[in-house]
Amino acid sequence: MASSYVGDSPGKKVTRLRSWLSAARWMKAFRQPFNGALVLAGEGGDISTLRGLGVDPARISAVDLDSENAMFVRELHPESSVFIGEAGEVSSKCPPYNTAHLDFNNGITVDNLLTIRKVIDSFDTFPAYLSVTMMKGRETGKDDKQPLLPTCSRQKRKFIKRVFNESNNRIAQHLVSPGPLDIEYVLKVAEEELDFEATERKNLRLKRDSGTWVSKTTGKLTSLGTGMVRARVIQEAIHALVWQRKIYDTTKNNNVYLQPASMYTYHSRSKHTGGTPFMTVGWVVYPITSHQYIETIFDRYYDVLFSAQDLPASVAPHALKHFALDMSHGG
Ligand SMILES: C[S@@+](CC[C@H](N)C(=O)[O-])C[C@H]1O[C@@H](n2cnc3c(N)ncnc32)[C@H](O)[C@@H]1O
Repeated sequence: MASSYVGDSPGKKVTRLRSWLSAARWMKAFRQPFNGALVLAGEGGDISTLRGLGVDPARISAVDLDSENAMFVRELHPESSVFIGEAGEVSSKCPPYNTAHLDFNNGITVDNLLTIRKVIDSFDTFPAYLSVTMMKGRETGKDDKQPLLPTCSRQKRKFIKRVFNESNNRIAQHLVSPGPLDIEYVLKVAEEELDFEATERKNLRLKRDSGTWVSKTTGKLTSLGTGMVRARVIQEAIHALVWQRKIYDTTKNNNVYLQPASMYTYHSRSKHTGGTPFMTVGWVVYPITSHQYIETIFDRYYDVLFSAQDLPASVAPHALKHFALDMSHGG
């Protein structure tokens, strides 16, 4: 299957590096040794970044639906395990990993959400670190008429719905309903609830300078805000998928939760293309049994470890220069 991916942009390169640095910081805070990484192969950018950070290439697995991309990356990085196939399907055959970056070249779709769930299923140890890159702003869902949850008996669905109704979670309530996923609706709800969440979480408030880091004084969302809205939807969808299975299935990792750990937004504009807005969100993924421990670490280190940064279109083509400048100031 041929990919529509047109190649790396400076914004993507810098964001990918920031995101892996963030993963390393969080894993260190949890004293969790790095076991391995799963990435989408593309042109091998994630592998190059990880190698640049000193990761043994033998601990990296890369997967691509596009056989040409996979074969190119296999040639470029022969020590890594490179697979042709769908990342979710292949994940269980990969060498052990407890970090993953799924750098999709499209937005939130049911297929991408199912892939994320399967990649989480095959994490080898917890807490694990998952980052997801998606396009933001083109989620009309016109071609995506699938429901999120697989068909199941009315009785099971009613039970799932009751669980979510009790939690008063409007996004999850829609996600577990039988019709096709209405992405515009859930994004709207997530947007309505975003400011409330940002105000609730004391440590997010610290990130605000004038107004908020998620919304402008006009009330419109900032680029990071639109990223946080999407992160919330993905997170709720994964929780819904995990929950539905937990109720009538017993495969492993049925009890995992996602806690947002970083948010980067960027524009893929380069000297050669007009580009599109993207976001890369990172989560710490952990089993509910570790909830107390994870919350303790989050409360203690959130202000230092949670990073959020936007690379707007105006600076995207020069992102590498900006990154070097940030680094020389210790940022
Ligand atoms: C944006 S590129 C990845 C870039 C890569 N991170 C890099 O560093 O060069 C996305 C790639 O993932 C592939 N892809 C998208 N969805 C996939 C899936 N579910 N399973 C496997 N490959 C997928 C596409 O064919 C494309 O080559």
